[in-house]
Amino acid sequence: MHLSKEQNTKVEELLSQMTLEEKIGQMNQESPSIVGGFDVPFEELIEMMTDGRISAEEFQNMMSAAERDFHENDIRAGKVGSLLLDDPGKSNELQRIAVEESRLGIPLIIGFDVIHGYRSVYPIAIAEACSFDEVLFEETARIAAEESRAYGINWNFAPMIDVARDARWGRVSEGPGEDPCLASAFARAKVRGLQDDSADSYVAACLKHYVAYGACEAGRDYNTTSMSISQLHNVYLPPFKAAAEEGAATAMASFNDLNGVPCTVNSYTLRIILKDTYGLEGFVVSDANGIKECVTHGIAEDDADAGIQAVKAGLDMDMGTHIYKEYLKDAVSAGKVSADVIDDAVRRILSVKMWLGLFENPYVPEETMAKYQDILPKKHVEKVREAAEKSIVLLKNENQTLPLKRSQKISLVGCLAADKNEVCGAWAMGWKEADCVSILDGLKGAGADVVYYPCGGPVGDISEEEIQKASADCDVIVAVVGELTNMTGEASSKANIKMPGKQRKMLEKLLESGKPVIAVLMNGRPLALGWEDEHLPAILECWHLGIQMGNAVAAVLLGDKNPEGKLSSSFPYANGQCPVYYNHPNTGRPGSRSKFTSRYLDAPFEALYPFGYGLSYTTFEYQELKAEETEDSVKAAVTVKNTGTVDGRECVQLYMQDVAAGLVRPVKELKAFQKIFLPAGTEKKIELELKKQDMGYYDNDGIYRLEDGMFRIYAGGNSRDCLCEELRIEF
Ligand code: BGC
Repeated sequence: MHLSKEQNTKVEELLSQMTLEEKIGQMNQESPSIVGGFDVPFEELIEMMTDGRISAEEFQNMMSAAERDFHENDIRAGKVGSLLLDDPGKSNELQRIAVEESRLGIPLIIGFDVIHGYRSVYPIAIAEACSFDEVLFEETARIAAEESRAYGINWNFAPMIDVARDARWGRVSEGPGEDPCLASAFARAKVRGLQDDSADSYVAACLKHYVAYGACEAGRDYNTTSMSISQLHNVYLPPFKAAAEEGAATAMASFNDLNGVPCTVNSYTLRIILKDTYGLEGFVVSDANGIKECVTHGIAEDDADAGIQAVKAGLDMDMGTHIYKEYLKDAVSAGKVSADVIDDAVRRILSVKMWLGLFENPYVPEETMAKYQDILPKKHVEKVREAAEKSIVLLKNENQTLPLKRSQKISLVGCLAADKNEVCGAWAMGWKEADCVSILDGLKGAGADVVYYPCGGPVGDISEEEIQKASADCDVIVAVVGELTNMTGEASSKANIKMPGKQRKMLEKLLESGKPVIAVLMNGRPLALGWEDEHLPAILECWHLGIQMGNAVAAVLLGDKNPEGKLSSSFPYANGQCPVYYNHPNTGRPGSRSKFTSRYLDAPFEALYPFGYGLSYTTFEYQELKAEETEDSVKAAVTVKNTGTVDGRECVQLYMQDVAAGLVRPVKELKAFQKIFLPAGTEKKIELELKKQDMGYYDNDGIYRLEDGMFRIYAGGNSRDCLCEELRIEF
């Protein structure tokens, strides 16, 4: 986000004309849940929609009804700075009141949760991150920006960039996985894509949830987080730093407390780090109801106290509680909050509106609205299909069970296989059923010889009769198993992350047929797949891939597309291994087969499928790693060979270990990666660069340290199987 000198001057001029009430109005975001004509909170409505209690259409109708009830008078009086809304007609109507009928004509900024696409829904973030493709991350964000803006949304509550290591947390689905380096690349690219102000339409990004929300204890949503300052800076902050440096316009404070201070009122994370150190120029919004929750946290005596603490900490906009609206004026009059603090917040909000061009173009043009209500642009569909294909990860493929041949007779099993409403996953709002392709549709469209048998799904019973039928007349069984959309996302933590319901039983019964049973997983978190890995010949991780899911899965199953995804999160064998992640600090007794080491008696100590792992229909061999020091970097060259019979794409990964440091460091840390294409039988020398300035770590005072000493440099196709070289580096 960059403002010209004239734009900055305009912001200052406007600020100087505003009354205190008008300023506080800018800091107030209205959402249907608090002003609407119904009592159900917004989050619960979403839940009702995702679990089918109300249809998407009913949800839309309720939203519109609630939106009709918006306090238009408040907008007219300059008491509203922002709306949480996704209805272009309504947004134009309310914007018109703000622009034409309020005293200063300040436009509203309209925010909404467009996390992985609006109508052209692309893979959930944990899936898309498996593509390790920064260009793609940016391109899909551009599509989201274009469609959002056409729907009257100029501020996307995305990217969600919480590093998350505990698969029990339902929100792992929304973010780019367990690794700070990959998450940072994802964060930067998403900000570039959303905020490309050289394009016709762009939106303000909102970095969330700031910060360490992904570290909620025991993976339980909204739970407490506690960690060292070093861990905060080395693991959880990097994506936010990267995105803020990329120019992200806004951020959202997370619900959790961090070392005892809720992030909503945390001046260390908000003011000192995000604004003063990382240089976020725009504003910070609370998460829904976040300010009020500070009373429940027990950090504020009452709502007024919570509001005062929040604004002083650097929280500029109140989402959903009216606390700023009700209490800030008195707090300023009583000298409890300085006028400068209010001015700073309002300046930031006005700056974002100015940069978005809302003062010149506050409305969505009719023709733009019409364009996107009809059919989707072909280029959007093609791009989200590409994203879906690249996000698929082949986890197991014994005896080359996959790809399938078109001559094979397939029994397609599992309710998820035919359900168009389950392809988009958590936090997808703008999709239309007619745009969604189920796996059944995808296979049929690709010319496969396929018969569908529902047999059972993530909930409910299984049908033995259908299982018998599915087992009888086929060459191969493809079982689509996993999670329903509402089993991940917000407030969807689980204590048991094994295959839900009776699906494992279903797989057992299918195996009795003696036919190869391939699991196609549709899910939003790493599942504990010890049993599946032991018993099934092939497993394809397909996540919730968005509207083009069926076509992408069919292309990979049939070998029209060679899988190239690599896991953005490690998968455990068993529940009790959580959290399991590759970049853990070493212990004095690293896990091994011997008893007195860091291990379990009843489960392996390492991940079943580690971060960065994913197979291909071809095989790659890594040879001759050579790491060399240059003046400001380490250059690692490695030869990668396609040793199989088909062309393929590989993600070459570079890891580092600081062998002895002032603090215990991770056993491995991803530092760079590169996607390459290798025709069958060819090889290529790949050079990856690790900047010396990235070889340090933050200590417990939050100071970045580069320490001379021995470093291990690893290169490989996943975080476990790597070549290694040692180098002594002096900085
Ligand atoms: C979620 C946020 C979301 C907000 C607004 C909250 O419940 O935590 O991720 O942006 O609602 O919908």
